[in-house]
Amino acid sequence: MKHFYSWILLFVTLFLNSWATAAENKPAVIKIDLDRAIGEIDPNLYGNFIEHLGKCIYGGIYEPGNPLSDADGFRSDVIKVVKELSVPILRWPGGNFTSGYHWMDGIGPREKRPARVELAWGAVESNAVGTDEFIAYCRKIGTEPYICINLGTGTWEEARNWVEYCNRPKGTEYADLRARNGHEEPYHVKYWGLGNEIDGPWQMGYKNAEDYAKYALEAAKLMKWMDKDIKLIASGSSNFGADWITWNRTVLNTLRDQIDYISLHTYVGNPKDNFYEFMAQTRPVDERIEITAGLIREAQIRGNRHKPIYIAFDEYNVWHRANAQLEVPYVLASFLNSFVRHADSVKMANMAQLVNVLAPIHTEKQGLYLHTIYFPLQLFARYSHGVALDAFVQCDTFDAAGFTKIPYLDVSAAYNPQKKLVILNVVNRHKDQAIEARILNQTGAWTGKAAIYELYQEDLKAANSFDSQPVKPVEKTADCGTDAITYRFPAHSFTTLCLPIR
Ligand code: AHR
Repeated sequence: MKHFYSWILLFVTLFLNSWATAAENKPAVIKIDLDRAIGEIDPNLYGNFIEHLGKCIYGGIYEPGNPLSDADGFRSDVIKVVKELSVPILRWPGGNFTSGYHWMDGIGPREKRPARVELAWGAVESNAVGTDEFIAYCRKIGTEPYICINLGTGTWEEARNWVEYCNRPKGTEYADLRARNGHEEPYHVKYWGLGNEIDGPWQMGYKNAEDYAKYALEAAKLMKWMDKDIKLIASGSSNFGADWITWNRTVLNTLRDQIDYISLHTYVGNPKDNFYEFMAQTRPVDERIEITAGLIREAQIRGNRHKPIYIAFDEYNVWHRANAQLEVPYVLASFLNSFVRHADSVKMANMAQLVNVLAPIHTEKQGLYLHTIYFPLQLFARYSHGVALDAFVQCDTFDAAGFTKIPYLDVSAAYNPQKKLVILNVVNRHKDQAIEARILNQTGAWTGKAAIYELYQEDLKAANSFDSQPVKPVEKTADCGTDAITYRFPAHSFTTLCLPIR
């Protein structure tokens, strides 16, 4: 009898579950309207980050003596794939590392540079790579340098001297030092971060919001007096267990006259190995951006200040993953979708990190291979430019990790007026069902052939390694017709569609 009731209960549960799924069953529709512009997409959304951590720099980008390295000690094979990633901006030297870093340790003849115990990650820092090497690397890969200063254990004086070393013409102490180190011309480093994650107790020189804001304000003043053309990024929230909104509000209200950006950091994970909970993890990203954009507005109104302040999402990624399986690039694509959907307020983002540390590129002495997350970033950096569009998306939803009504299709859209292309980035977060969507252009007709780049493998745990690289995008084309396009997004997939319009 007991068994009989258990069976009944099981059948009822199964019936209710399938009814619940079927009951929703909305036809998937994506509507594009070129008039619904969100804002210009800043190419810096596709930036990256290198830190003195693990094998990111030493053994990653820099490995003198390796036959794969160039005359300056930089790995040529890494440079090649970094260039193919079209990195517009590169943040350095940390991360947590920067809060104990004294830049003078890393300049001048190598044999005179001190080796130091590095407290952020418990390593020994040789200082073989310092400011001049970082700038040389940026030049090699064709990227804009972004230096994050030490506002943990560092001083205002060090900060202003670093700007002088990098940006002033010869004729004063630190600019002359640069020239003596072989670099006559100023580097003109435009982007400077005012410390890293100072709201986290894990940080060397952790401060409360008021103390950080006051300290950063004086650093900012001196740095801008040294070079009025630099752009400053305040250390915004990274500690979401704490009162992050108050942190951002205090920082913005104190620093609003000096800063050009406030940073946000977010790492997500999949500790329970649960597909839907993992797919839901990027849900708070939109919220954090929107709340911070509101706080920026509040600070501007309070200060009667109309010069823009933007968000620099200068660290994001999936933490502690096993070999970057196929689920991971979908989550990465959702981060990028979120940045594009907020292109009016997010004007920079930096994946953490470029090589070996949670990274798209994995090196060993004998060579490298590309992790799955390389591909969404590359597709966005190649195609998603122009104006971000507010796409209308109708599709079924799921509930997971305490979030409700999460659309299976996670979408961002852009219009490239030069190329007359609409670019759609779509993650299908359904684990086992393909979703067929009608894609409508509200302001004109589609035309010609669409180029489609699809990242998909049946095995969700597929990953790349030295031995095999099964995960990479497949390129396809399709006739557009003039009316609605119907496209079937495979279960658990990421697709970029480039759709020509008249
Ligand atoms: O990217 C790794 C670390 O994560 C960075 O050093 C720090 O800023 C963040 O907590």
